[in-house]
Amino acid sequence: MAETPIRIRTEKLSAMYGKFTAVKNVSLAFAANRVHALIGPSGCGKSTFLRTLNRMHEMIPGGWIVGQVTLDGQDVYAAGVSPVQLRRRVGMVFQKPTPFPTMSIFDNVAAGLVLDRTLSKADRAEVVERSLRRAALWDEVKDRLGSSAVGLSGGQQQRLCLARTIAPEPEVILLDEPTASLDPQGTQRIEELVFELKRDYTIIIVTHNMQQAARVSDTTSFFYIGDMVEHGPTRKIFTAPTEAQTEAYITGRFG
Ligand SMILES: Nc1ncnc2c1ncn2[C@@H]1O[C@H](COP(=O)(O)OP(=O)(O)O)[C@@H](O)[C@H]1O
Ligand SMILES: [Mg+2]
Repeated sequence: MAETPIRIRTEKLSAMYGKFTAVKNVSLAFAANRVHALIGPSGCGKSTFLRTLNRMHEMIPGGWIVGQVTLDGQDVYAAGVSPVQLRRRVGMVFQKPTPFPTMSIFDNVAAGLVLDRTLSKADRAEVVERSLRRAALWDEVKDRLGSSAVGLSGGQQQRLCLARTIAPEPEVILLDEPTASLDPQGTQRIEELVFELKRDYTIIIVTHNMQQAARVSDTTSFFYIGDMVEHGPTRKIFTAPTEAQTEAYITGRFG
């Protein structure tokens, strides 16, 4: 794991909803081109933490932070940083597939690119194809790019959302329980894809499926009631955790 640059770092990061502190004082470093899992029981701040990384947290009523998040050394909360531009560099896929229901498959992927006015029609089509190929969906949809995205299966819709996220060439992809609503086959395809995509992207994935974290991730961080209890190489967290709380969680004593 040495030699890899740190892509995202949080420094004493806390995230609040009004007066309630959902994430407390988390300092973490995420190396580039790795898969990083965030695990822990429901309500422990995993999604909130994830949303602070691309400033989605501040979109939620009452949402504010203290501390720092840096992307490639740059403070993402600094004055002058555009949250919209930031979210193209740090893309996100949610638990339930969220294709735009009134749009075609093609337009769903192209939606990630609308700000890019310099792109010609042909270039746009090329980016859509490349993104769909990267998301392992091209072969299944290439003959019906003009039809509605809602005709796709749940697993296909989730890969479509991944393609949309990939289209603007992000550096980081945030995945919030991306397989929670999928069947085992759809889940396996997403897991294979996550493994594949880390060659090009840094991936941070929230999962409450511990087997999934063990299968796909290089590092794991265990969250418990707003605290980041332990962070380390996935193998170590699952075989020889340092903290008693981590051990109790991974051995299924609560959760
Ligand atoms: N929109 C919100 N407004 C107020 N509190 C929230 C909101 N979303 C989450 N919370 C609270 O923040 C805490 C962490 O939630 P969350 O980040 O969703 O946890 P997890 O993803 O680990 O299940 C919980 O106590 C939850 O009730
Ligand atoms: Mg969550």
